[in-house]
Amino acid sequence: MSIAVCPGSFDPITLGHVDVVRRGRTMFDHIIVGVAHNAAKNYMFSPEERVRLAQESLEGIDGVTVEIVPGLLVDFAKQAGASAIIKGLRGAADFDNEQSMALLNRHMGSIETVFIMGAPHLAHIASSYVKDIARYSGDFDDLVPPAVARAIRERKDTNV
Ligand code: PNS
Repeated sequence: MSIAVCPGSFDPITLGHVDVVRRGRTMFDHIIVGVAHNAAKNYMFSPEERVRLAQESLEGIDGVTVEIVPGLLVDFAKQAGASAIIKGLRGAADFDNEQSMALLNRHMGSIETVFIMGAPHLAHIASSYVKDIARYSGDFDDLVPPAVARAIRERKDTNV
């Protein structure tokens, strides 16, 4: 069985992420969505909340599980028996960042990264934009799965 890890912060998961996972499943039998920590980011949702939101958002796609990546991605991928890492690319700005991570992960763990070009109609979606729109009370419903839209509203209501 071919396994790939699709890692990210997923804070929160968006329709762009869901599309990348769905298309990744056409290449791999099983995709593990890895909710990881990016030291450069402040998170709106805890790792457990990000896992739950990803699970709810991906429940319609067979052969997908969601797990927390507790440390280095390469260690997690190796332990999971994954033959590749899958990442979505929206454009050149993503590529700069992803290229160095892909090379580093291959250097550290001999694991290849497979890039999936994001669908053009979803290329404007980023978790950081979603959070910014929510912060200023804009409309984010068509950028994220329904479970995520609900969770953001609840988070805003409790003002956390
Ligand atoms: O969605 P993001 O924040 O762009 O994803 C980046 C992420 C979380 C995949 C990356 O920071 C990561 O892999 N973190 C896990 C720890 C690790 O392996 N760091 C070295 C990666 S080069």
